[in-house]
Amino acid sequence: MNTNTGQTVGTDSTTTSAMSGVHAYVSRSSGVAIEAVDLVKDYGEGENAVHALRGVNVAFERGKFTAIMGPSGSGKSTLMHTLAGLDAPTSGNIVFSGSDITTMNDTQLTLLRRSSVGFIFQSFNLLPMFTAAQNIVMPLTLAGKKPDKQWMGTLVETLGLEGRLNHRPHELSGGQQQRAAIARALISKPAIVFADEPTGNLDSVSSAEVLEFLKRSVSELGQTIIMVTHDAIAASYADRAIVFADGRIVADEQHPTADRMNGLLLDERGAASSSSSRPAGEAARPAEER
Ligand SMILES: Nc1ncnc2c1ncn2[C@@H]1O[C@H](COP(=O)(O)OP(=O)(O)OP(=O)(O)O)[C@@H](O)[C@H]1O
Ligand SMILES: [Mg+2]
Repeated sequence: MNTNTGQTVGTDSTTTSAMSGVHAYVSRSSGVAIEAVDLVKDYGEGENAVHALRGVNVAFERGKFTAIMGPSGSGKSTLMHTLAGLDAPTSGNIVFSGSDITTMNDTQLTLLRRSSVGFIFQSFNLLPMFTAAQNIVMPLTLAGKKPDKQWMGTLVETLGLEGRLNHRPHELSGGQQQRAAIARALISKPAIVFADEPTGNLDSVSSAEVLEFLKRSVSELGQTIIMVTHDAIAASYADRAIVFADGRIVADEQHPTADRMNGLLLDERGAASSSSSRPAGEAARPAEER
């Protein structure tokens, strides 16, 4: 599913782009990369049940950068984890490159994730006993493959990890750990990358560099990225931004600007605080999580 088209990007071979000379790995043709159909995820049962996803229908186009925003506890991470096959939905379907992953067993899911999915978690999830370099190439090591040295070099340079590669995670700053986690997600050139607040622990300069890198991997290499963020400026790097509230999509914006996203988030906050009129059963989430 790692559909290397053999097409060269950075069409001008003299370009100074850090991504020049790298082969496109995802078809630029339009089409849906992944789709959720009536996706429901409940945690727990009965009175204590949390309805994290309440019947979500959404398709993510291939070669696009989509941001997901929304209040804490609204279901953003749950959506990412179920889409990536890390967590099973309560009901509904997930169609990934034409296959329904909800019918797959654990082995099939593991193989699919290894070949086609990159995940940047809210917490970095680097393995403490391995160096940054070993962590970055871990997805390939697990698959018994060798890294593409040029691509590794591009990632390391663009993410500013030179000189830190032989250090273990506890010897890296939070930002450096997150950048290593980003390199790890991209090293195998996955068909789709899920990024859960990838810039949440970065200073504003590092954050802008990382977002610019993610944006270019979409525009120049045709990567598909779905990114959760609480930052409207981060969302403005995306082609599309979705706003989540209480397990549902409440807004879906093409070419988002930071101002527009801040406006939508404020609207949603207003709607949530004034909605003592929410239908019964919709206020299951504790107020402090909103
Ligand atoms: N393993 C779990 N067991 C029980 N409830 C859970 C579990 N994981 C998440 N939840 C609940 O599901 C709801 C959605 O959580 P989720 O982590 O998807 O929110 P989020 O939008 O990513 O929030 P944040 O912005 O704080 O990361 C929350 O009410 C949360 O408490
Ligand atoms: Mg989350």
